[in-house]
Amino acid sequence: MQFILILMSQAFGDQIVLSQILWRNGASTPLHCNWKCQEFEQQGILNDYLTPIGMRQHYVLGQWLRKRYIEDLKLLSQFYNEAEIYIQSTDVNKTIMSALSNFQGIYPIGTGPKLNPNLNHSYLLPPNQLIFEDLGIEAIPGLLQVVPVHVIQRQADIYLRGYDALACPRNEEIINKNVKSKLYYEINNRTQSLILDFAKQLGIDASHLNITDLYKYQDTFDSCEFNRYDLPQLEESTKQQMKLLQNLYFSLEHNIDFEQTRLLATPFFRNILLNMQDVINNQTEIKFRIFSANDASVQLILNGLNLTTVECLKQVYLKEEVENKNCIYTYPGYASNIIFELYRKLGQENQYYVQILYNGTLMPICNNKYKCDYEEFNSIIQFQNVNDYEDECWITPKTQIKIATWLFKTNSVIIILLFIISIFIIYLLIRQSRLEMYTKVKQQVED
Ligand SMILES: *[C@@H]1O[C@H](CO)[C@@H](O)[C@H](O)[C@H]1NC(C)=O
Ligand SMILES: *[C@@H]1O[C@H](CO)[C@@H](O)[C@H](O)[C@H]1NC(C)=O
Ligand SMILES: *[C@@H]1O[C@H](CO)[C@@H](O)[C@H](O)[C@H]1NC(C)=O
Ligand SMILES: *[C@@H]1O[C@H](CO)[C@@H](O)[C@H](O)[C@H]1NC(C)=O
Ligand SMILES: *[C@@H]1O[C@H](CO)[C@@H](O)[C@H](O)[C@H]1NC(C)=O
Ligand SMILES: *[C@@H]1O[C@H](CO)[C@@H](O)[C@H](O)[C@H]1NC(C)=O
Repeated sequence: MQFILILMSQAFGDQIVLSQILWRNGASTPLHCNWKCQEFEQQGILNDYLTPIGMRQHYVLGQWLRKRYIEDLKLLSQFYNEAEIYIQSTDVNKTIMSALSNFQGIYPIGTGPKLNPNLNHSYLLPPNQLIFEDLGIEAIPGLLQVVPVHVIQRQADIYLRGYDALACPRNEEIINKNVKSKLYYEINNRTQSLILDFAKQLGIDASHLNITDLYKYQDTFDSCEFNRYDLPQLEESTKQQMKLLQNLYFSLEHNIDFEQTRLLATPFFRNILLNMQDVINNQTEIKFRIFSANDASVQLILNGLNLTTVECLKQVYLKEEVENKNCIYTYPGYASNIIFELYRKLGQENQYYVQILYNGTLMPICNNKYKCDYEEFNSIIQFQNVNDYEDECWITPKTQIKIATWLFKTNSVIIILLFIISIFIIYLLIRQSRLEMYTKVKQQVED
């Protein structure tokens, strides 16, 4: 019912003014050296590169976005307009290439720019080409559209790589603590039978395996499944448990509690809110923003929106009763995506609301609503964001600050002491000279 009401209100004129999309890369080659490691290495595919399958996944997602934002909601221009779109990616080949593949779906071949047919042909050549070949009036044959993709270097990418110790040094310490936590031990213990079972089916030694290893195996299996590399013959129930563990394990490291989540998600959410504000205040023309990142970023933001939590992942994994009915317990698969849409309400020029979609499905936010007033969304996110991210992530290292203030304080004390001592010495000197003068005068008088 709620869906129908939303669809109707949008059909009758609530106007979308901004869409921001965070997505994971498409299918890639394996990264970890475990299953068929040597074979994959020899084939040169152990490198975490985007595969043709991954390109296709994003191309198709691009077609979906084209239908929604160009044809149905008419947010974007029919032809690519630089002023409307900003694409940001992590500085990783597979995420940059995912973004480029995706935009071939949004602005497909045939929509690119044409030349002015009356142009003097000599202007169509680069300086090192002397012979003119007539390529027609398409800027690039096939009317292909090229788009700019912006990246921030890894160390500084707090928006999309906040989990990386390069971006948030403190997260390394948090992860080390998580790995020693009670919950981690509990999950590791309760996984022993799965480990034994898994090792037996694979014909490997179980004695050195822990949940980290199982997580990495599943990452490789995902790659094998999608790209049709060899997969082991595992029992169906083992496969299911491996997949649930993959997601739980990841959260045990990166989102063990809301404190860790809200810290790491703060820069991304700040960015999302700022972009909404800019649109509401008419300070930007950009109405379509892409964040091309990986599984860690998508999982972090799902946690930050309370669409999943480590508790519910644990409950699903251990087959306990799940309290949070909205819990997304599947690992963010290739090309999974979170969309933040901002709408202006019909007839109320300054009233806005937010909608969030995961993999194309509307998600409940702001205590179970599908439409959340912008003010409410803004205040919930502002409230959960940390106040001083740089400080809490130790980007300005605490010890350095402490040493600096300590030095400053000791220096000040020394300077004050020196000052008091010198005043005292001057006083003594003056007193001495007065005394001398007094005795001199006295002597003269007596003489
Ligand atoms: C990207 O590709 C280059 C080679 O083209 C390679 O050297 C580099 O390691 C790759 N980096 C990532 C993060 O994928
Ligand atoms: C085209 O421009 C070049 C260089 O400016 C000039 O030499 C040439 O005469 C022009 N050709 C025509 C047909 O105008
Ligand atoms: C799991 O085992 C790997 C070695 O296979 C090791 O590097 C890692 O630290 C172990 N993880 C934990 C939490 O003990
Ligand atoms: C922004 O522009 C819209 C329509 O053009 C207008 O209704 C609204 O009042 C403006 N908002 C601000 C904050 O200037
Ligand atoms: C998520 O849940 C926490 C409490 O666990 C709450 O403080 C926070 O406001 C919630 N965030 C959102 C976006 O609903
Ligand atoms: C997409 O989202 C749905 C939940 O709406 C989830 O069940 C599914 O696993 C997700 N797909 C991927 C590829 O992550």
